[in-house]
Amino acid sequence: MKGSNGFCNVLSIQLLFIALCLFIASSSSLKMGETCSSNSSCDAGLSCQSCSANGNTRQRCTKIQPLIPTSKVKGLAFNKYSWLTTHNSYALMDAQSDTGSPLFSPRNQEDTVTRQLKNGVRGLMLDMYDFMNDIWLCHSIGGTCYNYTAFQPAIKVLKEIETFLAANPSEVVTIFIEDYVTSRQGLTKLFNASGLRKYWFPVSKMPKKGEDWPTVDDMVKQNQRLVVFTSKSNKEATEGIAYNWKYVVENQYGDDGMKAGLCPNRAESSPMNTKTASLVLQNYFPTTPNVTGVCLDNSAPLISMTNTCYEASGKRWPNFIAVDFYQRSDGGGAPEAVDEANGHLTCGCDNIAFCRANATFGTCDVPLAAPPPPAAAAAAGGGGNSRVPSVTPSSVASLDSKPVQLWWLIGTILMMTLLL
Ligand SMILES: *[C@@H]1O[C@H](CO)[C@@H](O)[C@H](O)[C@H]1NC(C)=O
Ligand SMILES: *[C@@H]1O[C@H](CO)[C@@H](O)[C@H](O)[C@H]1NC(C)=O
Ligand SMILES: *[C@@H]1O[C@H](CO)[C@@H](O)[C@H](O)[C@H]1NC(C)=O
Ligand SMILES: *[C@@H]1O[C@H](CO)[C@@H](O)[C@H](O)[C@H]1NC(C)=O
Ligand SMILES: *[C@@H]1O[C@H](CO)[C@@H](O)[C@H](O)[C@H]1NC(C)=O
Repeated sequence: MKGSNGFCNVLSIQLLFIALCLFIASSSSLKMGETCSSNSSCDAGLSCQSCSANGNTRQRCTKIQPLIPTSKVKGLAFNKYSWLTTHNSYALMDAQSDTGSPLFSPRNQEDTVTRQLKNGVRGLMLDMYDFMNDIWLCHSIGGTCYNYTAFQPAIKVLKEIETFLAANPSEVVTIFIEDYVTSRQGLTKLFNASGLRKYWFPVSKMPKKGEDWPTVDDMVKQNQRLVVFTSKSNKEATEGIAYNWKYVVENQYGDDGMKAGLCPNRAESSPMNTKTASLVLQNYFPTTPNVTGVCLDNSAPLISMTNTCYEASGKRWPNFIAVDFYQRSDGGGAPEAVDEANGHLTCGCDNIAFCRANATFGTCDVPLAAPPPPAAAAAAGGGGNSRVPSVTPSSVASLDSKPVQLWWLIGTILMMTLLL
């Protein structure tokens, strides 16, 4: 059974092996900041997009998912984490009004609430109105919903959230209701009908004097994984729905909230440094959503505002960072801002990706390589180099993956040649 047959076997195994090596080498994907041609060429959690508002006309792999902080640092209080939050989560670019009427409301997001949750969004801002004997998600004027400002019955989105919570038993979701509902027990009936009642985090357990919240582990254990805030103060007494600004301080939204260096509270909120409210919410989006300008807003200016609001909030990092078009940026965007806030909050590092398991606060695994240059600068610098040095904080371990694969390939070929 030796001789030429054995030789052929070795040869075919060798070819198979080389093919396998080539496959592995070619299917390795691109990191944050690298130029790309399609979404699938980027690593998981990234999409391929350009940001011309920032002079970044080439498509680059751009972060669309934050790290789920509880998967990295466990056991902390709910208010020791930061959560990516979508402003007007339901107001989608391609939405039609369920009334059949043309829809004239502004649009703030691009993908469904289901997709948002899958991408790691954990805070949802929903505007609710009485409309057509039901409660609708609507973006309207003067507290009245019209056919041409109505998106869809709220229960449809609440059922998406229910599906997510049922399928992901260790996740917590927070809903911020801009509440125009006046029908009696309207929200209670709505949440009952949606199946979300069983996840309700009770107002009685919410800290009233600036104490820590229960731990996320505890919330998960009790299956109290839905936190709901309303903008109507009376609903806390009448329906047991927490009045937002009793528990949350929140900065100004819209254009007035985007002035660099300033982080004033919105009118309904106590001053940002009010420590009797244990949660801090940072808004960062313009009065009129701007799908072309938002990638710039969600990048360096957002990080800068996060630092400003940290100081304004009595040195507290935001628990919620709320933006329009959360997937858009020139590289890291809102998901990166959330990862940074979580680094500071959970382990005292500049990014949650740097946290070391079970280490004392402030022990960080910072990657040695320099961060990628700003996309605009790299694009301006000659343009011949299609690859920005690939470094994302979260990819420390895989930094050298391409050279390693190449050496492996060469080594394998050498080995096989020698064996023959
Ligand atoms: C990546 O996916 C997004 C969302 O589906 C899409 O808008 C965008 O055009 C895609 N990018 C590329 C380069 O295909
Ligand atoms: C609004 O839409 C509903 C449902 O399609 C329709 O019955 C109603 O006539 C519309 N109202 C107006 C004022 O167009
Ligand atoms: C909502 O559900 C709770 C618990 O199942 C029930 O006690 C309550 O009566 C319901 N409320 C309304 C208004 O339907
Ligand atoms: C939207 O952003 C673009 C790019 O930054 C800017 O040129 C434009 O003026 C903005 N539009 C509005 C309405 O602010
Ligand atoms: C960290 O601590 C947890 C709980 O004590 C333990 O299960 C886990 O294995 C530890 N991880 C490391 C990397 O030491």
